[in-house]
Amino acid sequence: MSIHVNEQQKLFTLHTKNSSYQFFADEHGYLEHLYYGAPIGEADMRYMRYFSDCGFSPNPYDLRGQRQFSLDTLSQEYSGYGCGDFRLNGVQPEYADGSRSADFHYQGYEKIQGKYAVQGMPACYDNGGEWETLRIDLKDEVSGLELQLYYGVCEKLDVITRCAVFHNGSSDTIRLHKAASACLDLPFGDWDVIHFQGRHCMERIPQRQRIPHGIQTISSQRGASSHQHNPFVILANPSTTETAGECYGAMLVYSGSFAIELEKSQLQSTRLVAGIGTDSFLWNLKEGDTFWTPEVIFSFSNSGLETLSNSYQELLRKNVCRGPYKNAPRPILINNWEATYFDFTGEKLLNIAKEAQSLGIEMLVLDDGWFGTRNDDTDGLGDWFVNEEKLGGNLQQLIEKINQLGLKFGLWVEPEAICIPTKLYQQHPDWAFQIPGRKPTMGRCELILDLSRKEVVDYLYERIHDILSNHHIEYVKWDMNRHMTDVFSAALPAHQQGEVKHRYMLGLYDLLERLTQAFPEILFEGCSGGGGRFDAGMLYYSPQIWCSDDTDAVHRLQIQYGTSFGYPYSAMGSHVSAVPNHQTGRSVPMSTRGIVAMSGAFGYELDLQQLTPQDKEEIRLQIQQYRKRSAIVSNGRQYRLTNAVEDRYFTAWQFVSQDGTEALLNLVVLNPQANPWGMHVRLRGLQEDAQYKDIASGKVYSGAALMNGGYTFPTMQGDYASTCIHFVKE
Ligand code: DGJ
Repeated sequence: MSIHVNEQQKLFTLHTKNSSYQFFADEHGYLEHLYYGAPIGEADMRYMRYFSDCGFSPNPYDLRGQRQFSLDTLSQEYSGYGCGDFRLNGVQPEYADGSRSADFHYQGYEKIQGKYAVQGMPACYDNGGEWETLRIDLKDEVSGLELQLYYGVCEKLDVITRCAVFHNGSSDTIRLHKAASACLDLPFGDWDVIHFQGRHCMERIPQRQRIPHGIQTISSQRGASSHQHNPFVILANPSTTETAGECYGAMLVYSGSFAIELEKSQLQSTRLVAGIGTDSFLWNLKEGDTFWTPEVIFSFSNSGLETLSNSYQELLRKNVCRGPYKNAPRPILINNWEATYFDFTGEKLLNIAKEAQSLGIEMLVLDDGWFGTRNDDTDGLGDWFVNEEKLGGNLQQLIEKINQLGLKFGLWVEPEAICIPTKLYQQHPDWAFQIPGRKPTMGRCELILDLSRKEVVDYLYERIHDILSNHHIEYVKWDMNRHMTDVFSAALPAHQQGEVKHRYMLGLYDLLERLTQAFPEILFEGCSGGGGRFDAGMLYYSPQIWCSDDTDAVHRLQIQYGTSFGYPYSAMGSHVSAVPNHQTGRSVPMSTRGIVAMSGAFGYELDLQQLTPQDKEEIRLQIQQYRKRSAIVSNGRQYRLTNAVEDRYFTAWQFVSQDGTEALLNLVVLNPQANPWGMHVRLRGLQEDAQYKDIASGKVYSGAALMNGGYTFPTMQGDYASTCIHFVKE
């Protein structure tokens, strides 16, 4: 049992394999947080409560004689509003009379077998008897605003999920200016925050800094989880490393605007509040209505960052990703984007497919430009009708020819966007986000369709459904190439405009759910100008996401390294592209481009007809190697042996199969040295007493030797030399 309830004491303890979480409802009905950290067995952590008469920290009226009791200093499970807790709040309600206050008191609880679902949104799911749910009921008596806190516990995977649900039990509308998913109070200690910042073409670069006094917000107001800040943070003890020390993760299962707020208080406690972004958010909760917030996944590790990462990676693979490709090898693909951009014909595609087939590639993905009048990025989005003139025939004829070669066929779409010159825009200008009387802000020459409107979602469903059901398409790349501006729905009244961004996300999730249910056998790959929506929400619909529009293998080392703190390698779309690289102009050897791309959902994105015979031979070899190695990368444990952002000599990383019988040791030399010192690493995660054979050289090493003594790579010269050593247990 992972959830223990002491009914008499109203004491709740959640246990996972390597963590315990405890809170209780005190004698005044406040839900006090007690503990989250390494396992504490049956201990009652109430002895840790600390009270002091803190100046300017007010007291609830009924406890006015107890000056040590203040919500401002209490560790809480969820912070209310306006009742004396001046720290970050979870909710900001506004009532009919204009007052704003929420003073939640405990009402009861329910323990439920299995994992709760989040209405209308993606969430972790139970794979069969592995989860338990706890629901705590709270209420603000005066207003009738009810709050349910959900806790999902997966003991085996070391995670606790949370979400908050608001219900209006009053007879007036309650306006929610903020409705966070969860709060977490860490009463003592200094903490570093690691978050994953970046930009288009350089996503999820870890940044670590001490949490200072005051408030810090990691957020996106872009209507997408964004390239700039990922909805995932780690709080780490300042001494925590990859292999030792305490750390907590908080990951939102949400793809829209979000906020993860952090505050170190006057009494040195740290509070984390995570949820939907508050910028322009205003939800009208009508009488009897319920509002679900997105899920947050928490995990704790007492043995460093790599354990935390492996917990998230395994959870996302097993309990978030769905569909037949969740565990199955993904087809090795060739995408025509960097090979042709918009400049292709059916014949050109067929020639690429023929070449691909001869090399062992398994699928051709036709990217942007196959529909409407889209021959550059200024036009066409919205008119989802095949451009038969460009293809020299209809799409099914092309697919059949590709299938006859033995290749699967995949197609790119960007359903959420619309270009102004299109027929769709002429028919429905009000379907695009724009504010009456203002010129809309353009992003890549496109506007965004108002997916908060059901008729827009239904239209997109019909169009995409029609394409997918009339053609033999086995893969869909779902792209989105701008962020939200001019957010205004022509279908909603003035007082509901603050709901539009979240309603958009609900519309998008509805559309993706309906399509993935209608075509369960199709592999979906998420994309938003590369990794602009690389989040757990999108992984629920697409088990892989194009990691970045930067295909430079050296930059990818950093991008994939940063991504790996929270997300599995099986989710990272990663392709070998041409040199000089189209984004950076850098030239990296084909072998190194292969090694980097093979640490991900592997494919190619270059004009195969332009390759030298040597490159083609190298690709044939890579494909053979990938088939042998992909299961270790996709399902194994991963180890970051160097810091790919800070270490400038070389980058090394490792995978070990779940049963410990195989390992891959990868190295890329970034900056070869004259008069070099040895490139040395200690392997991790092997079986100490097992013997491992390097299958290329035939040399055998014990697990203990590789982990304690380590491995020194031979000196390698030239630009970006690399190797991948495949160890197999004897
Ligand atoms: C952005 C994607 O990330 C690219 O891979 C490509 O699909 C383009 N969009 C097409 O417009």
